This record gives sequence, structure tokens and C-alpha cells, in this order.
Amino acid sequence: MTNIPKEEGLDHTISVLKEGYDFIPNRSRQFNSNLFETSLLGERVICMTGEEAGEIFYDNNKFIRSGAAPKHAQKTLLGEKGVQSLDGEAHHHRKAMFMELMNPEHIRQLGKLIADEWERKLDGWGDGETIRLYQVAQEVLTRAAVRWAGVPLEEKDVEKRTRQLAQLFESPASVGMKYRGAVHARKELEKWIAGLVEDVRQNKLQPPSGTALLTFSEHKDLEGKLLEPRIAAVEVLNIVRPIVAISIYIAFTGHALLQHPDERAALEGSKEEPLEHFVQEVRRLYPFFPFNGARVKDDFEWKGMTFEKGTLVLFDFYGTSREEKNWPDPDQFRPGRFASASVTPFNFVPQGGGDYATGHRCAGEWATIEVMKVTLDYLANKMAYDIPEQDMGYSKASMPAVPESEIIMENVRRR
Ligand code: HEM
Repeated sequence: MTNIPKEEGLDHTISVLKEGYDFIPNRSRQFNSNLFETSLLGERVICMTGEEAGEIFYDNNKFIRSGAAPKHAQKTLLGEKGVQSLDGEAHHHRKAMFMELMNPEHIRQLGKLIADEWERKLDGWGDGETIRLYQVAQEVLTRAAVRWAGVPLEEKDVEKRTRQLAQLFESPASVGMKYRGAVHARKELEKWIAGLVEDVRQNKLQPPSGTALLTFSEHKDLEGKLLEPRIAAVEVLNIVRPIVAISIYIAFTGHALLQHPDERAALEGSKEEPLEHFVQEVRRLYPFFPFNGARVKDDFEWKGMTFEKGTLVLFDFYGTSREEKNWPDPDQFRPGRFASASVTPFNFVPQGGGDYATGHRCAGEWATIEVMKVTLDYLANKMAYDIPEQDMGYSKASMPAVPESEIIMENVRRR
């Protein structure tokens, strides 16, 4: 029996905060192993990276999600008792409701709402405006996300709700004031949406059919009971929050466009395929969601190593989407690689891997691609702008990473 390579020392939580996205890739290189053992937040943890590890991590017979997410993330990013924390039949049943919302027609509608919001911005900017792409994208996405979800939002509240939603995904690794602010934001958002769920149930509010607010207000669990309003709110926020989080990918899309002017020509004419390849390469290359955790369901062995029941295991998304054997020259931005790449459910995992319906893979992956494509088309073909000197760097220690300048664009106008 081989032993899993083990990082010496009492606790390495600080190294996760210092090295961020590179924490698992750095050690897997050092140990020359796609799995190793460490200690985080006072607990023994196994970290894994690469396609093969992904196949294991997404095996429902080997891993469960219950008890895997840290409290910190539940209080901010995820919320409590949402789909991410469920296993087995209960998970399958709740996940089906998400996947229902992701039909092609509904996703096209989301893309249309996003385009409408960019149009409105361009109308408002007239002959030219200076913007930070990351910030403007958050507002555009919030407006489109609430409409798509059937959530009424008054104009006077747009700024406040946009900020609160952003606090949820900007804070999971934060401490102190920033963390407390995000906990407060989640409480406020859940209270707001839970109130709307009750209004729907009392017929005081009628969201359009097929929207998240209506679907989750009416959803019954396996025992035939409606979800508690708070939990329905967590699930509505599981639609709205990540749509606003696509602002991070939009900032990186802007980054990629500015850093790789040679790739722009292919985007002219707004053709589907080049737009798609470009956004796929942004999702592959840029850091967003570093890793996720699950617990060992029952003792099992893999590659001669024992995984004991209850052990927390982290699977590396960032490193896996850059594994050299599947992604030659992994650090190069080359959208064209997607013309011939053989993508499997486990080798390209910016939003998780495995199966959508039976596993925990991100329900919003297709919607994310659509939102990014529509926005890229605006950035590449429908907007004119000047780019001033700015700090285009980003820190891989900060999770999530965002370009320092948030992508400043001057004189933004319709092209
Ligand atoms: C339209 C936008 C999005 C929606 C509606 C959405 C929704 C969801 C939902 C409901 C889950 C839980 C799935 C489950 O537990 O079964 C999930 C998982 C996840 N999402 Fe998204 N998401 C969106 C965008 C994003 C974005 C932009 C990212 C950024 C990388 C992301 C990363 C993830 C990750 C990493 C997981 C966990 C995957 C795993 O553990 O395997 N999502 N998403």
C-alpha cells in the first residue's frame, strides 16, 4: 500500500490564502503526484488535481457534499441548505428544477436580456463615457438576472442590490469587515427574496411562468412539501448571484481582448464559433473558482491509497483545466485550440465537472457561455472605446481574482 504524499507542518490554511489558485498545482508539482495530504482549518484534507482525479471526485458512490462546504462560504457565497449541500435522491430532485430552467429557449432569452441591457447602456452613454468594465457588467447582469428570474426590482434599489449580490461572491475567502459585510448582505437578500416567495404563494405577485421565482416558490420536496421561504430564497439566489458573478469573466474577457489584439480579427462578423472558442479559452485560462470540496462517503482505495470515510477532499478546478497532457502550452491564450480539443466531463472544469443532472456540475454553464458570448460580441464588434494606461495585473492570491484596474475604458460609445 502506498502512502499519500503528505505536507509536513500543523496547518497550511495561511498558504491557501497566500498562494490562492496555485496552492494545489504548486504542491502537486512539488510532490510529483496528482494527490497529496495537507491540513487546513485544523482538519486533515486530501487535495487532488487532474482529469483522472476528477473522475473519482464526481463518483457519487465515493463522495458526498453534505458537511463539505465551510461555514464561511455558507454564510456568504452559497447560503444554507441549498442544492450544493444535498446528496442522493434529494439532490437529484432539487437539481432537476435548476436544469429545467436551463432549456435552450430560456437561455436564449437570457442572452437577449443581456443584449437589451448593453443597448440601454450604449444609448445612455451617447457620445462617450468612461467606465470600469467590471462594475458596469455587474449592473447590466443584475438587471438582466432579476428580470430573467421573475424578481421585481425597483430602479431606486438597483445599485444597492447589485452591491449586495457582488459582496456574496467577492467575499468567501475574506475576513473581518469585508466578511461581516457579506454575511449581512446575504441576510438582507434572503429576507427580500423570501418575502417575494411568500407574496407569490399568497397570489400577491405573479411572476411569468418558467421563471426561477415562480418555479422555486411552487417546488415541492420529495415529501410533497413546499420549500421553506428561506430555502426557496437561497435557490433563487443560486440563479441570480452567479449570473452577476459572470462580471468576473467579463472583466477577464476584456483583459484577453486587450492583451491579444491578434485574436480580434477572428471575432469580426459576430460568427458563433469564434465567439464561443474565445469565451471557452477565457474560462479555461483565467482563474475563477479555484477548487471545491466533498467528503468520502465510505472507505475506498484508489491507486493503492486509502480514502477514509468522512475525510474532506478538495478537487482542483484551476489546475485541471490547465493539465499539460490535455492542454498543450496550457498558459498560452489560444482560442483556436477549441476547434480540435477533445473536451471530456473531467478535463475542462472551470465550473466543475461530471454530470449536470446526477452530479454537482454547475447548472449555469451553458447560460454563462451565452452571457459571455453576447457580451464579447458587444466588446469586439458593437462598441468603440479608447484604452488608457492601467494596471492589467491580477493576483492569484486573491480569490476571486479580478484585474486590478477592473478594465478602464474611455470614450465608450456605439460603433
Ligand atoms: C448563469 C449563471 C450560473 C448559474 C445559474 C449557476 C448555478 C449553479 C448551481 C445551481 C450549482 C449547484 C449545482 C449542484 O450542486 O448540483 C452550481 C455549481 C457550481 N457553479 Fe455555477 N452557476 C452559474 C455560473 C457560474 C459561474 C460564472 C461560475 C464560475 C466559475 C460557476 C461555478 C460553479 C462551480 C465551481 C460549481 C460547483 C461545481 C462542483 O462542485 O462540481 N457557476 N452553479
